[in-house]
Amino acid sequence: MPTELVWEGKFDAKGCKKAPLRVQLPFQEVETINESALDRGKQLALFHAGQTRAWRNRLIWGDKKYVLPSLLPEFAGQVNLIYIDPPFAVGSDFSFQVTIETETFTKEPSMLEVKAYRDTWVKGLDSYLQWFYETSILLHELLSEDGVIYVHLDEHAGHYAKVLLDEVFGKSNFLHEIVWHYPDNFQGNVNGFANNHNILLVYAKRAKVKLKRLEIPLEKAVKRDVRVWSKTEKKIVAGRDEAGNLLYRTYETKFADDVWTIGQSSVTKAKSSEWLSYPTQKPEELLRRVIESASNAGDLVLDCFCGSGTTPAVAEKLGRRWIAADLGRFAIHTTRKRLLTIDNVRPFVVQNLGKYERQLWQKSIFGPEEQELQTRYLQFILKLYHAQPLTGNFWLHGIKAQRGVHIGSIDAPITEADVRMTVAEWQKALGERPTKGIDFLGWEFAFELNEITKQQAALAGADLRFLRIPREVLEQKAVEQGDIQFFELAALFVATTIKERTLTLKLTNFVLPLDYVPAEIQAQVTNWEAWIDYWAVDFAFKKDTFHNEWQSYRTRKANKIQTQVAYTYETPGTYQVQVKVIDILGNDTTKTLQIVIAK
Ligand SMILES: C[S@@+](CC[C@H](N)C(=O)[O-])C[C@H]1O[C@@H](n2cnc3c(N)ncnc32)[C@H](O)[C@@H]1O
Repeated sequence: MPTELVWEGKFDAKGCKKAPLRVQLPFQEVETINESALDRGKQLALFHAGQTRAWRNRLIWGDKKYVLPSLLPEFAGQVNLIYIDPPFAVGSDFSFQVTIETETFTKEPSMLEVKAYRDTWVKGLDSYLQWFYETSILLHELLSEDGVIYVHLDEHAGHYAKVLLDEVFGKSNFLHEIVWHYPDNFQGNVNGFANNHNILLVYAKRAKVKLKRLEIPLEKAVKRDVRVWSKTEKKIVAGRDEAGNLLYRTYETKFADDVWTIGQSSVTKAKSSEWLSYPTQKPEELLRRVIESASNAGDLVLDCFCGSGTTPAVAEKLGRRWIAADLGRFAIHTTRKRLLTIDNVRPFVVQNLGKYERQLWQKSIFGPEEQELQTRYLQFILKLYHAQPLTGNFWLHGIKAQRGVHIGSIDAPITEADVRMTVAEWQKALGERPTKGIDFLGWEFAFELNEITKQQAALAGADLRFLRIPREVLEQKAVEQGDIQFFELAALFVATTIKERTLTLKLTNFVLPLDYVPAEIQAQVTNWEAWIDYWAVDFAFKKDTFHNEWQSYRTRKANKIQTQVAYTYETPGTYQVQVKVIDILGNDTTKTLQIVIAK
């Protein structure tokens, strides 16, 4: 029996090792970015002709527990390089900073993120190791025969992880332990030695794989042009001196060894160009070395804990294909923005597991019988919302604090028709049971519900509220612990003007229900624009994927959004225009408008 690490929970009652969950859920494309209408047409044609569509890099919002097994049918044995920087401690991993004008606040993690952390750590190190073990098994299956994995850890778990990776990847496939040394970190008053390193464990799928040697520049000086340069000295132009003479930055190179000294300040200092306020962000130079050492242009790179998106950003710059995933809403948003700032970023898609994940949950919790499943689902959500069930109605499912409650189905958005029918039923029931209005709880909402429908319903005397059913509902422990909060949708106001074939959109207001916004953030916001971090437009929305054709967003350099955009249509017609806003807390709100271009 080979030496291996054992932890509580590694084996089931029969003495077999517990295997990872193997669900295979289809990914849903929620957004395409930087894809021209022409390319989109080509992709569609290929799809209809039964041919493989051109490759698109993928940014996936989801828990690795579902994402990794769902990638297997398409990517088992196909990934050339994996880099993971898994979460270790909560707080630093999940909280993020929100900047409003000049003030910065730390936003607490969402319940879902806390929950993932709790799951991982519920039994301390034992459950962390089981979580890591299951991750490693699936990553091993995704890796190609000549593939390499880099696992980024620190002194808390690195030694356990190495024994565990020996078991999953094979001891003989261990290639290196890299020390990432960041001497610019804390040097102050510590006991013993300042902690200024992390480790990266490198394994191959098969022992024969060799990493490429990397040349590391050793900078020497900036100096004036001279006739004779030493043979080993390389130089790049660094500007001119006062007399106009060319200045060169000179450097020598050496081959990197297994200690990589890369300053951390590039990602932690507000003045650095890389810094994105993401607490666990890693330097791009680190990822450059990882990617260049173990992949070639066109190879596929995977990171299922992408955080601020360092891996996809560097992979993009180095011409690799990439798949990046993260559980955090804010991580996905930070990554999307980061990629957009790269010159000529290739088109990519944003995906999630959406309703498929929910359907899986619904069947597993409420049983296979359709009728029974529906009733139990409604009861479950009503209970979470602290509402009483109402019988004898079709559209009105419950009542809470004198308001009727309608619950949207698990796999379809609440539509205007749903609202109309519910309001009609509510009016009929008014004599029996007076209510002030109706709360609609939905996973998704069809366009325009928030304003137009509200106005129409107000005419019928019904005050409507639309609240999102949070994804935490799917997590048993969050439910047990009463962690479920239903948040009201934000309202976005957009004015349109059309002159000949040119449409101008202007954001005129954005109203965020404030019940979940930290008080100190609320106090800082003096105008509605300050809530908006990013907005994008699909000028010819087809009611499927959101095709991002234009966007405006804040960066540290340009901390202002544009509130107006003009777009000229080539042909007359009736178009749906979808506007998507992502607020400074990472939540999105969409609004769909219908416009007519007459001639
Ligand atoms: C240490 S950070 C990665 C930082 C990243 N290397 C960078 O340069 O920004 C770990 C990330 O894992 C994500 N995460 C934690 N648990 C997860 C899970 N179960 N599935 C997917 N992502 C998860 C967190 O949201 C966090 O962004």
